[in-house]
Amino acid sequence: MAPSATSKQVGTATLTYGDKSATLPVLGGSLGTDCVDVRKLQSQLGIFTFDPSYGATASCESAITYIDGDEGILLYRGYPIDQLAEKSTFLEVAYLLLNGELPTTPELETFTTGITRHTMLHEQIRSFWSGFRRDAHPMAMLCSVVGAMSAFYPDSIDIRDPRQREISAFRMIAKIPTITAWAHKYNIGQPFIYPRNDLSYAENFLYMFHAVPAEDYVPNPILTRAMDRIFILHADHEQNASTSTVRLAGSTDANPFACIAAGIASLWGPAHGGANEAVLKMLAEIGTIDKIPAFIEQVKDKNSGVKLMGFGHRVYKNFDPRAKIMQQTCHEVLAELGIKDEPMLDLAIELERIALHDEYFVSRKLYPNVDFYSGIILKAMGFPTAMFTPIFALARTVGWISQWKEMIEDPSNRINRPRQIYTGAPARDYVALGDRG
Ligand code: ACO
Repeated sequence: MAPSATSKQVGTATLTYGDKSATLPVLGGSLGTDCVDVRKLQSQLGIFTFDPSYGATASCESAITYIDGDEGILLYRGYPIDQLAEKSTFLEVAYLLLNGELPTTPELETFTTGITRHTMLHEQIRSFWSGFRRDAHPMAMLCSVVGAMSAFYPDSIDIRDPRQREISAFRMIAKIPTITAWAHKYNIGQPFIYPRNDLSYAENFLYMFHAVPAEDYVPNPILTRAMDRIFILHADHEQNASTSTVRLAGSTDANPFACIAAGIASLWGPAHGGANEAVLKMLAEIGTIDKIPAFIEQVKDKNSGVKLMGFGHRVYKNFDPRAKIMQQTCHEVLAELGIKDEPMLDLAIELERIALHDEYFVSRKLYPNVDFYSGIILKAMGFPTAMFTPIFALARTVGWISQWKEMIEDPSNRINRPRQIYTGAPARDYVALGDRG
């Protein structure tokens, strides 16, 4: 099993407020910044802490993923992301995230069989799609169908039963490619393609997405590898907005399907998982390389409200290590597909070059993030823009489940409930309708 040591006290910090002082423990983990434990602050000084976007707050202890944003390091259970992207497979990484260690050969075989035996959806779930509009955004369909899984699989929603937790995890990891592919098939009016368990996880997704019953479909190994790598790079990213949403929902003991549906909703926003879609829209709007300088000026003008999508990150103040792998994968995919001139790629490379030398971006430590290149790869592989965020959700499902499982198995877990600074009206008496105004 994974090392699951909890944090240790490494020092104290003293805070003085008015005529009182509190000595607070400072906790340290195995890597990363130490944290002041403020849980007793209110009882000692009668005050809370204020950190509205959680930029300075550790919300939990976790042994799953580590990011050093200044150095551009990302580790899954201690393993560097570039080594996993190069040498591992998505299902192996899924096992690692869930269980803490890389699997042995028999463990991987059992895990792979478990996942592939759960790829079909309950047939009744098909009828959900006929209720959606044909042009429904696939993220809307993902949210709904994953949330509805709790109605179809009530035998795996008892969160106190480890076996049921395991089955619900298998079900979500196995079925999310089917749901994602079917959302696309529904959008374009093609028949749903049922999963094939002789194919690998990535092959099966590509097959369900691209195949039609009228023709044979042979997965391309280079594109399959690119797909698998995209899944690995997106599999987890510690306490980001969607993962924190999953944990917040899960802290109430809500069932796992409902929690993951909440994570999908949170991922949808353009500041988070929706950014890869936004990058392509931005590149299309810029249009040609000669328009880049004017666009950059717009980005730098705070009144314009325009951002350079695919740039910047709350945690990375250096190159996002995933962006480098994405860039390399992008070249591999375009070469395999024989795409010599991809104007979007030329635009992206030039934008990156300019931004990496411009004082505005340099001084704010704004670097390309994972989404800067992923959209170009996905577009080249035949995925419509609306499918980019669903593919991110597909890959992140295992991270959400691993984080949810870690939280549920932590005996100190209790409902998450932040405080606030109230700025509204003080207490006042109700005024009858006729006496108002
Ligand atoms: N373009 C232009 N300026 C930016 C950008 C950007 N993409 N990102 C940040 N800045 C500026 C901010 O305006 C701010 O400037 P200021 O100090 O003059 O006020 C400064 O850089 C610091 O940025 P913050 O807003 O404090 O960064 P924050 O951590 O809140 O936001 C975020 C991070 C949301 C990712 C932001 O960089 C952004 O919107 N980027 C574009 C969207 C994107 O690519 N999102 C994907 C993130 S990765 C993921 O979810 C997988």
